[in-house]
Amino acid sequence: MTKSPIALTNSRYRLGYHVAAPTGWINDPNGFCYFKGYYHIFYQHHPYSAEWGPMHWGHARSKDLVHWESLPIGLEPGSPEDKDGCFSGSAIVKDDIMYLFYTGHHYYNDGDPDHFWQNQNMAYSEDGIHFTKYENNPIIDKEPEDNTHHYRDPKVWEHEGTYYMILGSQENDGLGRAILYASQDLKSWDYLGSVSKATDLKGEGFMWECPDFFHLDGKDILLLSPQGIDPQEEKYLNLYQTGYFVGEMDYQTAKFTRGEFHELDKGHDFYATQTTLAPDGRRIVFGWMAMWESHMPEKEDGWAGALTLPRELRLKDGKLVMTPVKELEALRVDEGKTETLTVSDATLIAKDASHAEILFSLPTTDATLTFKDAQEQDILSLVYTAETNKFVLRRNDTDEARYGTIQANDTLKYHLFIDTSSVEIFINDGETVFTERYYSESKPAVYLTTANETSVESTVYQLKADAVTYP
Ligand code: FRU
Repeated sequence: MTKSPIALTNSRYRLGYHVAAPTGWINDPNGFCYFKGYYHIFYQHHPYSAEWGPMHWGHARSKDLVHWESLPIGLEPGSPEDKDGCFSGSAIVKDDIMYLFYTGHHYYNDGDPDHFWQNQNMAYSEDGIHFTKYENNPIIDKEPEDNTHHYRDPKVWEHEGTYYMILGSQENDGLGRAILYASQDLKSWDYLGSVSKATDLKGEGFMWECPDFFHLDGKDILLLSPQGIDPQEEKYLNLYQTGYFVGEMDYQTAKFTRGEFHELDKGHDFYATQTTLAPDGRRIVFGWMAMWESHMPEKEDGWAGALTLPRELRLKDGKLVMTPVKELEALRVDEGKTETLTVSDATLIAKDASHAEILFSLPTTDATLTFKDAQEQDILSLVYTAETNKFVLRRNDTDEARYGTIQANDTLKYHLFIDTSSVEIFINDGETVFTERYYSESKPAVYLTTANETSVESTVYQLKADAVTYP
């Protein structure tokens, strides 16, 4: 009997220009690459329900990072090497072939979901649509001896003629770490050891998921999603975080010397990032626009979760900044409405803003951005206090606020992308970013309140609601 994907029963929260599954559950972005004229993005996917389940790789491609075509599922679990799931991984292009690297997940079938083992596998494709699992899988059959059964999410890159694979893992002493393998042919891999490890359990975590490694603006970056970092007052408040270390890799000794962990996005809904290099050399990142503890009311409608917008990463003053890729201008369906507003108490910036891009800037002052529904109830608010340079984000469906900071600055610049039930807020060219899902039965109206009467330059564009096409 062939199973059918879960049906979509209501479109009220469906996104207009973010990659999501046709129906069903999604989590991490996987296999992000540029291949034969298309960007390809895959994602952890369970097509048969709106809950996490045996992981498949859902798939979409785009010529411009803006218009996405949903493609047939790229990888299905169930082969001996990936019996219970094709977990996260990456892609690399070599000699006109796309290679996918992923973790095979296996339960011992004793009813204990923590009793599992993992291995690393490869699949390949010439057309970027149909994938063949490598006949000699697995390419790495088990974890190193000083590791627990947690080792997964291979990210592969090439450096000076050698291929490297970094894996998230947990050492036997219970600390998270990233381990490195090398290969000449992508098929046989040698273990090089641990490149970096948590300095302490509560500060840097017990398991490092989804590592990504790249060179950017003169530094090496280890981007990762550690589990088990303890919340601090206004930091690390999601169940798990995505963040990064800036440092230097010594490929001879396979050691990464690095500074402290920084969170990449301050919102409730951001995890498990993956990057690729665009043909013009930009480092582009996708994240999962959700978190394990997020509510995801769209589950009632037959789907759950989406990817963030593609964002460009840069290193600025030792920190990563994220900005929406410039290609997203192609989402605009009008010329934009630019106004100089005199803002004081709850001044309307945009109404019916269900698919909208909003840019505004103002001289630095206390400022509150609010999304309100048709009944004038707050859906979401972002309060900025000039004295402390701090932002506090609140949402109507949770008591838990999220916090961000910026360097002191004369100007406050906001750049928002609203898409039915998501908003991505980029402040001061990506110095602080909040990624949020919100759920409202009406289209939000966006207001700004400032402490004193302030002149605000604002531009509002309506955006496409059909940039992702599904079969
Ligand atoms: C991160 C993660 C990965 C794993 C995948 C399974 O969100 O836990 O480590 O490969 O999700 O879906």
